Amino acid sequence: METELSRQLGIEHAIFGFTPFPAVAAAISRAGGFGVLGAVRYTAPDDLRRDLGWMQEHTGGMPYGLDVVMPAKKVEGVSEADVEAMIPETHRRFVTDTLARHGVPELAEGEASGWRITGWMEQVARSQLDVAFDHPVKLLANALGPPPADVVARAHDRGVLVAALAGSAAHARRHAEAGIDVVVAQGYEAGGHTGEIASMVLTPEVVEAVGPLPVLAAGGIGSGEQIAAGLALGAQGVWLGSLWLTTTEAGLGSRALTAKLLAAGSGDTVRSRALTGKPARQLRTAWTDVWDDPAGPGTLPMPLQGLLVAEAVSRIQRYEVGPLLGTPVGQIVGRMNSERSVREVFDDLTRGFERAVDRINRIAGRSTS
Ligand SMILES: Cc1cc2nc3c(=O)[nH]c(=O)nc-3n(C[C@H](O)[C@H](O)[C@H](O)COP(=O)(O)O)c2cc1C
Repeated sequence: METELSRQLGIEHAIFGFTPFPAVAAAISRAGGFGVLGAVRYTAPDDLRRDLGWMQEHTGGMPYGLDVVMPAKKVEGVSEADVEAMIPETHRRFVTDTLARHGVPELAEGEASGWRITGWMEQVARSQLDVAFDHPVKLLANALGPPPADVVARAHDRGVLVAALAGSAAHARRHAEAGIDVVVAQGYEAGGHTGEIASMVLTPEVVEAVGPLPVLAAGGIGSGEQIAAGLALGAQGVWLGSLWLTTTEAGLGSRALTAKLLAAGSGDTVRSRALTGKPARQLRTAWTDVWDDPAGPGTLPMPLQGLLVAEAVSRIQRYEVGPLLGTPVGQIVGRMNSERSVREVFDDLTRGFERAVDRINRIAGRSTS
């Protein structure tokens, strides 16, 4: 499955895999795709250094990338404590009451709240970049718009391609003007932060808006047939996030959460502001329901909501509190019905792609020898 972009990066298949887990990212690259490690959970640069070092040793010499969450607009001199101070008491009480109603235990003393999304903060993302540029990362992706101009220039100086996610053609045009090299057109169905336009509509709109820049189709892809659809719509590859969550290499850290994902259908997700303050697709749970309920206090804007709920989410995950337990995931969760290795998932994708191409060739009256 070769395209101009896959040839440029030296990979066998134009399948890009976003994942927060180094073992999954490395396995994707080893399988012939392009693994992209999500950095948002790394608040300590040394942890990222350790894991990128590990990936370097476990990708079998194949290329890989890093995804940071860096807002294009710079917020100078604001610390996590300053942001914490902006959280209203009513919201703090709402979190405490919700957890108490579901009997969620406190974390034990000294047990740090592991789930923090402070990677969005300028200074954290910049410290991640310093580490990334010490490693042979081949692509740097950014979730919230194009990275700042100096970061794009720094990447280009080192021969690193820059990618950015876009939920509309207008976003994609702004990315192109900012000098990025690859646009990830991410549709409404996708896990994580999403816009309101479905992939079927979005991909060709973005291709038209930024061509000849390469576009990757993202959102709702979990089979080779869907990969073929993305390429037919003009994409030079696909970018998958949800599908890897139930692979054997993924470190979700909760059997109950894996079981919930395996059992969920495509209608069991919701686009909610409950986790970060921006609409992000995730499993629908009692937690998303209370935040989306008009009778509740409603969510706070990013980044306040993320800070407000960080410890609560850690507690829910630590004690596997069933009704509240969730994760970002896309509608493709309905196809994630068994735990398989990354290699098995990958082989299934490439076989399905070949089947789809054969079928289309037959329909078009071409031989498929
Ligand atoms: C658990 C999870 C976490 C995500 N976190 C990020 C992130 O930190 N940065 C980012 O650029 N995209 C993130 N995404 C979105 C993915 O990069 C990708 O665009 C999306 O998963 C594609 O749609 P799919 O879920 O239907 O495969 C996340 C997705 C999931 C499922």
